Amino acid sequence: MEGLTRTEIEQLLETSVSMREVNRRDIKKVPTLRGKTVINLFYENSTRTRGSFELAGKRMSADVINVSVATSSVKKGETLIDTVATLHAMNPDAVVIRHADSGIHTFLARELDTALINAGDGRHEHPTQALLDMLTIRDNLFRMGRSDFEGLTVAIVGDVAHSRVARSNAIGLATMGARVRFVGPPTLMPTEAEKAFGVTVHHRLEEGIKDADVVMILRLQLERMGGGFFPSIREYFEFWGMSHERLKLASEDALVMHPGPMNRGVEIASPLADDLERSMILDQVHNGVAVRMAVLYHICNASSHRQNQ
Ligand code: CP
Repeated sequence: MEGLTRTEIEQLLETSVSMREVNRRDIKKVPTLRGKTVINLFYENSTRTRGSFELAGKRMSADVINVSVATSSVKKGETLIDTVATLHAMNPDAVVIRHADSGIHTFLARELDTALINAGDGRHEHPTQALLDMLTIRDNLFRMGRSDFEGLTVAIVGDVAHSRVARSNAIGLATMGARVRFVGPPTLMPTEAEKAFGVTVHHRLEEGIKDADVVMILRLQLERMGGGFFPSIREYFEFWGMSHERLKLASEDALVMHPGPMNRGVEIASPLADDLERSMILDQVHNGVAVRMAVLYHICNASSHRQNQ
């Protein structure tokens, strides 16, 4: 999201709305990317992002290959850069990469002339997640009595320190004019968050979600922790878990969002997660396919333009 202008974000969201119309047809297929090739390369687990990038490419008639890292030559010791260079030699129009190392796309882009799409890099960024979150919020602006993001208050709650979703949303939402709060215990907060992201930081849940229009709950990223960030899961839920009761502090029509996968009873109570009036979790997944179609559409077209020059 870093570097994207408000106009570019609006253009991506507009394209996503057109793509969503395709996804709601009986026959969910258009020839938009016929003859294009997209490679998905996921070094970390994924259900939503990988599945929706695959569907996105296929619904636009691209040839899509999913490289399974577990059965690829990575397991024989091939480096990431050699793997991507090998895939590049097959002339793809875009390579979608998820990797545990923050900043890996910037490094690869310096080394290789390949169109790369970030499907999540370490704790750095998850731009398509932020775009689908913004599309979901945009769909509900009218219900919140607003016409745009200007002045909207979004509370991002939980394990902010390890969250690429929090970073990408903070950057994107600020670009769109929203006010972003990071809410969580000091041990799960990045250092100098205010200065780095222009957010306000709150270490008390009640204060952090007060009158918020959107409450975005984050998963505890246990896989990125060495332990000792909080006393126990039970205590975490007691202080930071979101429930209908706690949500009363937010705006009356506040949206509840979660990027998934969610840990029920850890960061969100099941009745709230399943309350389709408040919880946007499945709408977020629905919008994810459309957003990834929009991103592939713009990237593949830009990539053809570059190759023809
Ligand atoms: N939100 C998200 O990135 O989910 P996955 O890990 O399932 O792709």
